[in-house]
Parts: sequence; C-alpha cells; structure tokens
Amino acid sequence: MKTKVQFLDLGKQPITNNFLIKKNPKNEFFYSLKLIFHKGSKLVSLAKFVPPKKMFNERYAHRASASKTMSLAYSKLAKSIKKRFKPKSILEIGSNDGVFIKHFKKIKNLGVEPCKNLASITKQAGLKTYDEFWTQKIAKKIVNQNGKVDVIYSANTISHIHNLNETFKAIDYTLHENGVFILEDPSLVEVLKNKSYDQFYDEHAYVFSISALKNITKETGLKMFDIEKLKTHGGSNRIYFKKTSNKKIRVSKVVSDHLIKEKKLGINKIKVYKDFSKEVKNSKKKLIKIFENLKKNKEKIIGYGATYKSSTVLNYCNLNNKYIDYFLDTTPTKIGKFTPGTHIPIFKYKKISDDIRYVFLGAWNFKDEIFKKEKKFIKRGGKFISHVPYPKII
Ligand code: TYD
Repeated sequence: MKTKVQFLDLGKQPITNNFLIKKNPKNEFFYSLKLIFHKGSKLVSLAKFVPPKKMFNERYAHRASASKTMSLAYSKLAKSIKKRFKPKSILEIGSNDGVFIKHFKKIKNLGVEPCKNLASITKQAGLKTYDEFWTQKIAKKIVNQNGKVDVIYSANTISHIHNLNETFKAIDYTLHENGVFILEDPSLVEVLKNKSYDQFYDEHAYVFSISALKNITKETGLKMFDIEKLKTHGGSNRIYFKKTSNKKIRVSKVVSDHLIKEKKLGINKIKVYKDFSKEVKNSKKKLIKIFENLKKNKEKIIGYGATYKSSTVLNYCNLNNKYIDYFLDTTPTKIGKFTPGTHIPIFKYKKISDDIRYVFLGAWNFKDEIFKKEKKFIKRGGKFISHVPYPKII
C-alpha cells in the first residue's frame, strides 16, 4: 500500500524569495511543486523539498516588521506571554528582524535566525542571535551557554523545516521542565476553506492540520494543550505545547474541538485533497479568464503586494508581465527588482495612479488593511482582483 498520495501539481516554480535584479536572468532555478498527503501521519507536504540554503540565505527579503498589522500583533502577543507564563527566558526560532523578540529586553532573550542579513540586524540591536539553522546541535549549544529555556516561540518557521522529528526533539530538549513551546503557522483547514493554494511554495514544506501536528509531536515529548485561531497569513493557528513529562498539563477543550472539526471535514482522508485539487484547477481557469477579458478591453492591470504566496499563483497561472504591468510593494528589499519566474517589475509603493482601474491583490491576507488605505481608489471606481476564496473582481 502506498504511504503517500500526490494530489496536486502546481507546475514549475521559482524560489519565491529570489527577487531578480535583472528581468531575464540566465539560469533561474525552478523546481517542481507537487503536493502529497502522508497516510500515516496525516501530514500534507511538498513532494520534494528545496535545499534550505537556496531559500534561507543572506539575500532573504521578508521583513517581519514591514507590516503594521503584524508588528502590532507581535507586541500584543509579547504582553500576553509575559502575563500568562511569566518567563525568565525566551527563545525565538526564526527571529527575522526581531519584531517579536525585541519586546523581551528585561529577561534573557535569544534568537535563532539562519539568514545572516536578518541575524545581523538583531545582533546590532543587542540581541544574542545564533545565525544558524535550528537543529539538535544548535539546541545543545544554546542550552550549554544559557541553560534551559522557559518559553520557545516560533512563527511561520517550523513549517519551513524539513526534518520535523529532529526539530521537535530539539525543542523538547531545550525547554525547561515547566516550559512552554508556542508554534504559529498557517492552518490547513483555512487553506482548504479559502482554496488558498498559494500557501504552498518552496518555503512551506508543510501546511499543518492540528491532527497531523498531534500525531508527529507525540513521538517527540511534546503535548499540545491550547490553540488560538488567528487571522494572520490568511488564517493561522497558534498552538501551545508543554513537555509530555510535565504531569500538570491541563488540556483545553479547544484542542478536542479542533480535532473533531477536522475529522468532520475529512482532513485525515485523501478525498478532501482530491476535491481541493479540482477546485484549484477551476480557480486557475477562472483567474486566467478574468485577466484575459480585461486585457481584451485594453485595461492596464497592476499588482499590490509582491508576496511569496502570489508567486505560486502567478507562476501556476502563467500571469507574467503581459498581464500585470508592475507590482507596488513597501518592502525595500523587493523594490526595484522583478518577481521570480514571471519577471514583473516591483515599484516602491505610492498612490495608485489615476490611469489604473484594476489591481491584483497579491497581499490578499492584508485585504482589510489595504482596502482601508485605498479608500480613494475604491471611491473612484477602482477594483481589486482576488483569487481567494474564488477568482473575482471586488
Ligand atoms: P506577507 O504577508 O509576508 O506574505 P508572504 O509571506 O506571502 O510574502 O507579504 C506582504 C507583502 O505585501 C509585503 O511585501 C509587503 C506588502 N504590502 C504592501 O506593499 N502594502 C501594504 O499595505 C501591505 C499590508 C503589504
């Protein structure tokens, strides 16, 4: 019997983080983006992982503090962690530019960040940062130098790490006996609900369901005891774990509620993924049609937010510079470059110019923030194109 089933092929895809300096570079790297369901663990993952050093290096473009919504969310979370767990030490795996960990200056705060350009930002700000990948080896080094840690936090990072068994074992090793591990990652239930197939790209080796996480962490000494649903990244879960050896764990009812809901949705069976695959293929056809109809009418279309997610959509649907004139984006490391694979120029965000009536919403996860900001554009009849939950003009 097959232990893995492939359910979707999203075609040839570039490294989402590889924003190009030149429009048509020689030797741009592409890989085959296929998705599989693991029958045993119930995990959903890429069929073949991309080598980490191709993605997480000194050119890494994403700046967590670039979004006001996210900065605010991290500051709120820091307050809540201090109140709820009163940690004396905290470690963040994937500390990016320090947007979260900087809120813990009064206690021992540590960062792990393999992208050297980002690690140097937090090092300069005085944070002890280990500029390496999260492994058992680095966990040993951290514990040797700092002792065990009270809280480990990791947002949008664990789903990037290929070897989950080692990852969770290293977390268990690093945690203090009464310690708490908090994991935050996009939710598979939300992906299925929103048909947001763009959550799948090179970096997202996995998109987690609660059921799959429960299955794989129980082998590694961690037990989930609470879950919060978040709006970030188009729908995420914040999951709280303690060490299984901790005999005082009270598991919230929320955990079983999630598991029951997932079972009802059929998340542990292949059928739900095969249905999703059909819907994604339809979504592609509809989105291409929207663009082609607008182009027939000689409309100029631009993109808003050159997200990693949009890279999957643009490459899967072959929406290149013929369809989208340029992207507007606020991230300095993307500005002046070209989108990977589809080679659309990215310009520094400014007011949407008056000759534009249609804007593709690359950053659909910030729809509310963007619609608020672009009231004038909407008032003058400007429209957004979004593929989530199905392709439409808003
Ligand atoms: P992000 O949410 O990190 O998505 P992904 O992980 O898929 O890349 O990226 C959001 C991008 O959108 C980022 O490059 C900044 C950009 N952006 C704007 O240009 N203007 C805005 O108002 C917002 C909210 C985001």
